[in-house]
Amino acid sequence: MIDAASKAFFQAISRSAFLKLLATRYGMSGERGFARRFIAGEHVEQVIAAARAVETRGLAITLDYLGESVSETPEARRATQEYLDIVDRIVAAGIERNISLKLSQLGLDLDPQLGLDNLRRILQRASPHGFFVRIDMESSAYTDATLDVFETLWEEGFRQVGVVLQSALRRSAEDLRRVTRMGARVRLVKGAYKEPRELAWQRRAEVDAAYVSLTQALLREGTYPAFATHDPAMIAAAKTYAAEYGVRRDAFEFQMLYGIRRDLQTALAAEGYKVRVYIPFGREWFPYFMRRLGERPANVGFVIRALLKER
Ligand code: FDA
Repeated sequence: MIDAASKAFFQAISRSAFLKLLATRYGMSGERGFARRFIAGEHVEQVIAAARAVETRGLAITLDYLGESVSETPEARRATQEYLDIVDRIVAAGIERNISLKLSQLGLDLDPQLGLDNLRRILQRASPHGFFVRIDMESSAYTDATLDVFETLWEEGFRQVGVVLQSALRRSAEDLRRVTRMGARVRLVKGAYKEPRELAWQRRAEVDAAYVSLTQALLREGTYPAFATHDPAMIAAAKTYAAEYGVRRDAFEFQMLYGIRRDLQTALAAEGYKVRVYIPFGREWFPYFMRRLGERPANVGFVIRALLKER
């Protein structure tokens, strides 16, 4: 994890229309587009091919159709319809039935009821096919609304759905208690958004310490938790505590992002841990891509080298 200032910098430039134009032009062009390392492609056939390749490596998958913060109701309905189509395409393709999505893509920002209704439509289509649906967690402005939508659907009887908690947020220990009491599944992450000091730990050491403490709580009290991180120290902490506490390897999983630490993904799977790869795709890849650059400025060098090669 890098410091808060870099996160803020990349978050700010992700709003630049010029950079977006440039990136959209070159990022996905051909197999060698510089964003292709992190994003499987713009179309569903490309993500299905990527998912098959990941499954061949003995890893599990979750697919994310990129998009967030829609500003009009028709846009949210369109994204929902696209998710419904993706559910059908996944079933037809015979790959694992697991998707991740963002509520702001489904209209949460416009009206929480709209986000709730759209997610319900997706669950109604996906659940009979045995899908698991993970609601990604966005910035702290959405935490309450996201957990409320999740809880409402849980109370309606949807059980193949889970949430994400961020160790960077000071409130997460409390949220963890709320979600584990329900018996719901949590994905634990450090948190990809720049957050104010009142709400979030700012220093890496603090975010990491919170991650370890939440990991231990999830291993003790959680339901099939997912530890989503590429940080070897966090992974080691989870492994050690699970072994000490007598938690079986099939009672939790690790998750990593497509294109990041593929070596570690394969090594963990070889040790007998379940590893799930989060595979994003779609035309709205720019904000996701910028968050990945923000986490690791060395990625900027990777992008520049790819651009120079292309020229
Ligand atoms: P950290 O940032 O400390 O990185 C540890 C090491 O991992 C680095 O030294 C580097 O080797 C490697 N690494 C990390 N990021 C990299 C990158 N971008 N490029 C190349 N190497 C990199 N966040 C959120 O707020 N809401 C969410 O719903 C999710 N969902 C989610 C799902 C999954 C499967 C993962 C893996 C992550 C998320 N995240 C997320 C993102 C998460 O919050 C966090 O920003 C990143 O995972 C980076 O943090 P690490 O835990 O990997 O540690």
